[in-house]
Amino acid sequence: MTQLESLRQHSLVVSDTGDIEAVARWKPQDATTNPSLLLSSAEDPRFRHLMDRDVDQVFVNFGCEILRHIPGRVSTEVDARLSFDTARSIEKARRFISLYEKAGIKRERVLIKLAATWEGIKAAEKLEREGIHCNMTLLFSFAQAAACADAGVTLISPFVGRIYDWYRQQRKVDDIPVEDDPGVASVVRIYNYYKKHGYKTQVMGASFRKTGQILALAGCDLLTIAPDLLDKLSKAEGEIARKLSPEAARRSDIDKVALDEKSFRWQHNDDAMATDKLAEGIRRFDADARKLEKLIISLAAAVPAK
Ligand code: E4P
Repeated sequence: MTQLESLRQHSLVVSDTGDIEAVARWKPQDATTNPSLLLSSAEDPRFRHLMDRDVDQVFVNFGCEILRHIPGRVSTEVDARLSFDTARSIEKARRFISLYEKAGIKRERVLIKLAATWEGIKAAEKLEREGIHCNMTLLFSFAQAAACADAGVTLISPFVGRIYDWYRQQRKVDDIPVEDDPGVASVVRIYNYYKKHGYKTQVMGASFRKTGQILALAGCDLLTIAPDLLDKLSKAEGEIARKLSPEAARRSDIDKVALDEKSFRWQHNDDAMATDKLAEGIRRFDADARKLEKLIISLAAAVPAK
C-alpha cells in the first residue's frame, strides 16, 4: 500500500492546484484553488480557453472545469481586497454562486473561500445562513479558528507550511522536525478543540512543505495537498498510523473560549506569527490577483471582442 492510499483511509484527500490535468490525474474528492494558483494556471497556454474578460468569470471557469473531474466541492476565493469589508465580501460570494448556478453548478458543490479576518468571518456567518458554504482561509491563530467555529462556517483551512516558514525564519534554521513543528501543532490543537466541543465545522489542513507534515495529521477531516506532494505520497510505500481522532480529541484538556470582536482582535494580535502571516497572505493574494487582472487585459487587447 502507498502512503497516499493509506492516508485516504483516514482523511479526505483534496487537491490544492489550479492545474486541471493534475486534478484529473489525482482524482481527489474535493479541490481547492487560490488566486496565486489560478494566476499560474492562467499563465499556462493549456488553459487559455478558460480565460475571460472578467476575473470572477475566470475563477468560475476554472472551478467548473475542476468540478468535471471530482465528485465533491471546489473552493473559489473572494478577492483579498475585500478582506476587511463584510458587505462587499458577501456581494462577491453571491456573485460567484450566481455565476456557478448559471453554469449549472449547484451551490452545494462550491465553497466560498474568505480570509479569516473578523470581517471575513462575519461575512461567512451570514452566507452560511443563505446556504452558501464557506472555507475560511489564511487561518494561522487559534482565535481565528475559535471565531470561525462560533460563526458556524462549513470548513476552515488552517495553514501548516506558512507557520513552519515563519518559525524557520525566526529560529534561523533550515528545518524544524515534524514533532516540534508549530504548524502541525496548530492544526492538532484546532482539531482537538473542535471535536472536544462538538463543533460541526470541518478542519482541512492546508499549505504543506513536506510529506511528514501531512502524515502527522492523518485523521484530520480533510487535507488539501499540492500535486508534487501527492506524487511523493503515491511513490512512498507503507501503511501510516492515524494521528488525529475524535475519540482522542474528546480526552484532550482544552477549554472552550468565547470571543467577541474585541477579544478576537486582541488574541489574534497577541500572536506575532499569525498577525504577520495573515497580513502578508492578504498582500500576496492581492498582488497575484492584480497580476491576473493585467494578464486578462493584455489577452483581451490581443483578441478583439466578439
Ligand atoms: C489552500 O487552500 C491554501 O491556499 C494553500 O494550501 C496555501 O499553500 P501555500 O502556503 O503553499 O501557498
